[in-house]
Parts: sequence; structure tokens; C-alpha cells
Amino acid sequence: MNIYDEIPYPSLVYTDTHPNKLATLATLFGIKPPTINNCRILELGCGDGTNLIAIAQSLPQATCIGIDFSATQITSGQKLIETIQLDNIALQQLDFTAVDESQGKFDYIIAHGIYSWVPLTMQDTMLNLIKKHLTSNGIAYISYNIYPGWHTENVVRDMMKYHLQQLPPLPAKDNVAQAKGILQFITNLRQSGNDSFDVLLKEKSQQLQTVDDSYLYHDFLEQENHPVYFHQFITHIGQHDLTYITDIEFRHYLMVNFPPQVVETMQELFQDDFFKQEQYLDFFYHRTLRRSLLCQQTAKRTVDWQKLLDCYVATDLKIEGENITTSTGEILEFQHPITKIAIRYLSEIYPQRLAFKELFKRSKRPAKNLSALRNNLAQELLQLYYLEIIELHVEPAPFTTKIEKFPTASPLARQSISPHPINLHCEFVELSDIAKKILPYLNGKNDKSELLKMLGDVTKSRLNDALLEIARNALLIK
Ligand SMILES: C[S@@+](CC[C@H](N)C(=O)[O-])C[C@H]1O[C@@H](n2cnc3c(N)ncnc32)[C@H](O)[C@@H]1O
Repeated sequence: MNIYDEIPYPSLVYTDTHPNKLATLATLFGIKPPTINNCRILELGCGDGTNLIAIAQSLPQATCIGIDFSATQITSGQKLIETIQLDNIALQQLDFTAVDESQGKFDYIIAHGIYSWVPLTMQDTMLNLIKKHLTSNGIAYISYNIYPGWHTENVVRDMMKYHLQQLPPLPAKDNVAQAKGILQFITNLRQSGNDSFDVLLKEKSQQLQTVDDSYLYHDFLEQENHPVYFHQFITHIGQHDLTYITDIEFRHYLMVNFPPQVVETMQELFQDDFFKQEQYLDFFYHRTLRRSLLCQQTAKRTVDWQKLLDCYVATDLKIEGENITTSTGEILEFQHPITKIAIRYLSEIYPQRLAFKELFKRSKRPAKNLSALRNNLAQELLQLYYLEIIELHVEPAPFTTKIEKFPTASPLARQSISPHPINLHCEFVELSDIAKKILPYLNGKNDKSELLKMLGDVTKSRLNDALLEIARNALLIK
């Protein structure tokens, strides 16, 4: 039996795999990616397809194909697709080594949590597949476990795996219990200690006692888990004629918030070797995972702020009085007053996105040199993007924030209430009880008076608040 049939991977969504995110980053790094509205998307090792279903829901004109060799997971995803009647996605139970020309080319290929989890020879097959099936301007997303961070993880993984080898073969669930048991046992034995190993054990025990059993099994107990150093990954993709664009966590590699003298030294040392610089930064961050974007073209190594002029911008920054304060309590200071006006406007219309050009029009005040003013705004917004304070997108939002007479939530949102509904950003969102209660009824057939009747003891103003909460969480399509 396929181990993913015995212990399926958790049903998760990853907003960072969405073509909108991939296209935005590619654009910033000087690549012209395929338009996302009607693109073709392939997800390899899609599990039960939850992530791809969320993408398909948010891009109704796109065509999505998900492939996984686990029949249990694929069947479960197909049931959900049928229930919510999505017609732009197909999930296929298939080994990715069997993907052939008949599948055609794809503008976006997603491979999350698979490169490191297959035998080494299959990593080649996977990169071949990406090379063969990616359109000439297409973007691939690939995540993989990396060293040096995985050296630390392997201390625990090796201990657990050795322990399981001493026992008779057990069902996967029992293996997880045994693995947690040995980790806790060793941690407890060393309780009084305070050296670096004790700190590591305590931290991993705490983390792994609470994670999903399936995650623990597939990351720590499976036969196949092959981390690599970034430089090895770059060599590998080079052998397949693929080019590295950037990582999802690209801010880390741009050394945002590093002391200027460190940035200068790094730039002096590595001016001709960007990949070496990234490898040293992996040593610095002790990273365990990379999420890299690949293509078949040449990517720029720096972000081009002028590309921001073609983007859509959004932010949910809270503004109180004159100060703009981040969620961590930091007060933001802007060099250019126009940025503050723009942020204030965006926060009022959040989660709506506004095209940069439109935002500039709304924010500018009479000025002599409009193009300098526009450039100031773009450059300062880019800094805020590095700090994860604003969102950038290549397309307008796929949701509405307007409450229509007959509000309509996406079919996926209505179906995925528990534990948390999935929104059109492909994220799980936490809602108040009352909003959760209303959501399934937002099918375009019930107006407020119908909703009030269904809910019984809810007042009109609480209903309005709940509808606003639902709209603000990007759950409404109409
Ligand atoms: C670690 S899980 C990741 C699932 C999902 N992509 C995620 O990140 O949530 C790896 C997935 O790859 C699938 N898989 C592994 N080898 C495969 C192969 N050769 N062909 C198709 N699917 C495969 C497994 O069934 C499993 O669903």
C-alpha cells in the first residue's frame, strides 16, 4: 500500500504557490510571466488537491491539473470538486514519472513538498518533466529541504528512525507514537541539562508533540528525505537547463534590515557570484527549507522598482491618528508624504487592491515634478513590500468587498467551513461564530431578511457586521 494512502498528508493551502504570487515575483525580477487569468497550471504531488482546488476557485478561467499517485488522496479531492462543481480542474491518480506529451505545456508548475521526498533518480525525472512541460515564459515553483538547517533536524530524525528499526513493523500511526515517545524519553532524561543539545531537544519535543501526525510521519520517519545545499540545487537545475529566479523568502537574500556595513562587505565579496552569497546567507539563517522559482529565461538578480508601476497594491496597515503603526508596534516613518496618503487610502479599502497608477492619481497633490513624485512613491512602497507591510499583485482581486443584495461566497468557502474556510487568497481564515454560521447560506439566493429568518436570534446589526467580516476576509465572489 502507498504510504500516503495509509497516512494521507494534511489538506493544506499555500498562498505562496498561487500563480499570482509567482507572476508578481517574476515580474519584479525582470521576467514577463504568462498572464494568470487563463493560464494552465500543473501541480505535482498535489495530495488531495486542496491547494490546487483553492487556486482553481480563484482563477475560474484557468485550467488546473493535479497529479498524485495516492488513490485515497485523489479520490477525496475529486469528491470535493464534484460537490462544489468546479469545472476548471482535474485531479489524476498518476505517478509523475508517467506524465507524457499528451498533458501539453503549462504556464505554471507547482511542486510543493516533493523534490526532497522522492528517490534521488526521481529528482532528475522531476526536473526533466518541468523543463519539458513549462512554456517558454512559464514559472515553476519548487520547495525542498536544505542544509545546513536539516543537519539539526536530522539529529531528531535519525534518533527516531533508529528507534523504529528496533521494533517489529507497526502501522504508521503507531510508528508516530513510538517516535514521539523516544524523543520525549530522551528529552526527559536530560531534563536538568542546559547545554545546546538540551535546548535543541526541548524545542523539538515541544514542536513535534503538537504537529499533525501525518506531517511528523512524512518529514521525519519516511525513507526518502534528501536535503541539499542550495549550491547543489543550483548545479542540479543547471544540468536541466533551468534558471533560478528567486525564492519566496527573497527578502532574506536581499539582506533587508542588515547593517549597511554587512551589506557592503557581502556585496564586495560576492559581486560576481550571487549564488555564493545566497549560500552564505543560508549558513547565516540556518535555513531548513527553500521555496524557489525557476524558469527558462535569464532572470535579473535585483528587483526592478519600475516594475511596481504595473502592479496592484494592497495593505491592511492600521492607522490611528497621525501615526502608522505596524502589527509589531513599530511606528513607520516615510521620507515622502505621498506614501502616507497612499497607505491611508489603501487601508480604508482593504482587502481591495488598487493599480499603482490609480493609487498614484488618488494620492498625489499638486507638484512640479510628477514623475519624480511617482518614482518616490514606487520606491518607498517597494521598501514596504520588503518589510511585508504591503501586498503586491499582478491582477485585480478575484473577490468583491461590496455586499450585494444576494451575497455570494465562493463554493469552496461555503464547503470548507471546518476547521477554517478557505478564501480567494488561498488561505485559511478564522471567522467569528456568527460569520461561520452565515457563510454556508451565502449562495446568491438569500437576502438579508432570509438570512435573519434562518439565523433566528441574530440582530440586523450583528448580521451586517458578520457580512462585512466575510467580505473583508476575501470570501465573496459576488
Ligand atoms: C509531502 S507530500 C506533499 C503534498 C502537498 N504537495 C503538500 O505540500 O501539502 C508529497 C506528495 O507527493 C506524492 N508523491 C510522491 N511521489 C510521487 C510520485 N512519484 N508521483 C506522484 N505523486 C507522488 C505523495 O503521494 C504525496 O501526496
